[in-house]
Amino acid sequence: MLRIYCTENYEAMSRKAAAVMAAQVIAKPDCVLGLATGSSPVGLYQNLAAGCAAGDLDFSHVTTVNLDEYAGLDGTHDQSYRYFMDHNLFDHINIDKSRTNVPDGKAPDPEAECRRYEALLASVGPADIQLLGMGRNGHIGFNEPADTFTVPTHVVTLTDSTIDANARFFASRDQVPKKALTMGVGAIMRARRVLMVVSGPDKAEAVKAAFAGPVDPHVPASILQLHPDVVLVGDKAALAGLVETGVEVCV
Ligand code: GLP
Repeated sequence: MLRIYCTENYEAMSRKAAAVMAAQVIAKPDCVLGLATGSSPVGLYQNLAAGCAAGDLDFSHVTTVNLDEYAGLDGTHDQSYRYFMDHNLFDHINIDKSRTNVPDGKAPDPEAECRRYEALLASVGPADIQLLGMGRNGHIGFNEPADTFTVPTHVVTLTDSTIDANARFFASRDQVPKKALTMGVGAIMRARRVLMVVSGPDKAEAVKAAFAGPVDPHVPASILQLHPDVVLVGDKAALAGLVETGVEVCV
């Protein structure tokens, strides 16, 4: 089942999506949250931090599993996803950092690190909520368009489109890592609920293809059509193409 919430702008999207995450933490304080990076969830994380500061949210029993990490960057690199998570969320909430998990981009054997991470995902159990953004090419985590869906955590070679999109965060394009470690679609689809946030006109085409087109590994997010509980929260610019197809949108 897909529930779509269309908001006026990024701020409203962030508040709505944060409310979905907050409800989960309140309903099940020892929940497993699957987390994502990128600019889309930053506002959501700010809302969660504000909820924690206000005493409304307690993360002390929460476990987190992140989707992905760049190969070759360690957690002190300011573009690593570990650094991102610490600075955008973990340092601002009362979470026990030993319960926060991100693939190790500096692992000497990335394939072995993928196996370790997959075993860890199995041991903590399915995420109660898996938060996702979406790449302009329809990628989720770093599951890039391909001829098949890849189920377990794996090493990927990033596409030119993804390198271009993420180059804005690095001093130059050639500093963007060419490879990453990412959760596969297996752990994403095992999550009890998927929460996707999308913002801005750059995402409109991918959002439409993912939710109104065929299920196709060339649009990785389209696999979410097969998930029983997806909440898609987007601003009207990102949802424009999908809304045009006549899908039902919640208020
Ligand atoms: C990166 C991440 C994805 C994220 C995507 C979109 O490639 N690996 O998890 O969804 O960027 O990022 P943004 O939200 O900045 O558009």
